[in-house]
Amino acid sequence: MKKIFLSEDEMPQSWYNIAADLKTPPLPPLNPGTLQPLGPDDLAPLFPMALIEQEMSMQREIPIPEPVQDGLKMWRPSPLIRATGLEAALKTPAKIYFKYEGVSPAGSHKPNTAIAQAYYNKQEGVKRLATETGAGQWGSSLALAGQMFGLDVKVYMVKVSFTQKPYRRSMMKSWGAEIVPSPSMDTAFGRAILEKDPDSTGSLGIAISEAVEDAAQRDDTKYALGSVLNHVLLHQTVIGLEAKKQMAIAGDSPDIVIGCVGGGSNFAGLAFPYLRDKINGADIDFRAIEPTACPTLTRGKFTYDFGDMAQMTPLVSMHTLGHTFMPPGIHAGGLRYHGMAPMLSHVVREGLIDSYAYHQVEVFDAADIFAKTEGIIPAPESAHAIKGAVDAAIEAREAGEEKTILFNLSGHGHFDMTAYDAYYAGKLTDYRPDDSDLATGLAATEGLPQV
Ligand SMILES: Cc1ncc(COP(=O)(O)O)c(C=O)c1O
Repeated sequence: MKKIFLSEDEMPQSWYNIAADLKTPPLPPLNPGTLQPLGPDDLAPLFPMALIEQEMSMQREIPIPEPVQDGLKMWRPSPLIRATGLEAALKTPAKIYFKYEGVSPAGSHKPNTAIAQAYYNKQEGVKRLATETGAGQWGSSLALAGQMFGLDVKVYMVKVSFTQKPYRRSMMKSWGAEIVPSPSMDTAFGRAILEKDPDSTGSLGIAISEAVEDAAQRDDTKYALGSVLNHVLLHQTVIGLEAKKQMAIAGDSPDIVIGCVGGGSNFAGLAFPYLRDKINGADIDFRAIEPTACPTLTRGKFTYDFGDMAQMTPLVSMHTLGHTFMPPGIHAGGLRYHGMAPMLSHVVREGLIDSYAYHQVEVFDAADIFAKTEGIIPAPESAHAIKGAVDAAIEAREAGEEKTILFNLSGHGHFDMTAYDAYYAGKLTDYRPDDSDLATGLAATEGLPQV
């Protein structure tokens, strides 16, 4: 069987919350003023109470409200596909499966949480959402969700992506959102950055600061984040929950689970329902794949840090390159983030998950093989997961082992063709920050609570 579909009534009706199954709890987020663990009131200016409750919940299964399930049905359940063409090209005895999240209207996994977030905001009377976007995938997804539930959406789009991806902007406009390049003149923080560096290409850390500032200053507006937070990872578990049912139909279960990591949400969405099995004794190898240019898990430090450059967020315990770190302008814009989801950082630190880093040219080599064998042109972010799967399949070939590999294809690359053009013209550059670049970034965490 090439593709495995579920029917709509087989969609998950609850999200899976890994907090209920962890042997040791993650360190709590801190209020940067008092350095005390954060309470719900600290987050209330930014998020609706239902999401704050999910952020702190220890309940294993959290019901998905019916209007959210209905919204997700626009494209879910997503297919599970056996990468038979890729297997043949690699001459591997491994079986390679992928969960394809590119079938959503925005083209990635991001609407899985955008729809839930827009719903809860609407329920609590919010009129407008402010957010940032790196690659444009998250901004598009929140624009779609805002349209679905009747909320205005303002998107601060990292300037390098704003320039590289004009059609992502058009897409957000089609769904009614307002978009500005970040750093922008619309916030005090954006103006301060532009004053110092008028040519700043921006970063997710800067764009988050702008969106948080926007939301904090307006009564009608809340902030929405597309990754990193517990509730975002929670909403993404529909991916892994569906995959488990589909793998059962295929009569298989994965030995290796792979995903790319920017803030950690698509990887966690696929991996956490399986990680529960590993916590209960199953032998599964988890691989989180990041860019060598922004090596948060492989070379970052686990400590308390801010989620944004302007230090407006709470302090969270995570792998970080320091909140002032400016990642090089690689084409996987969604992976250019200095930090990592605290929940994912925690399980990496516990030794449950391994991390790997790849250069962008080798990642595009894998994307190219995939496009030629499976037909789908992947998003540059997702191509990191493909590279991870290709390497795992080659390892299996060399060891003569019939491994089962499952990876998350988090999105398609139809709005990333400029990057493909650069790759095919031989113009892509690999970047590896040297130790002194990393030391400069991490200096920003000095004086913050250490772990
Ligand atoms: C297609 C795609 N995959 C992956 C990511 C990385 O985010 P996360 O690690 O939260 O899944 C992004 C972020 O923009 C994305 O657009």
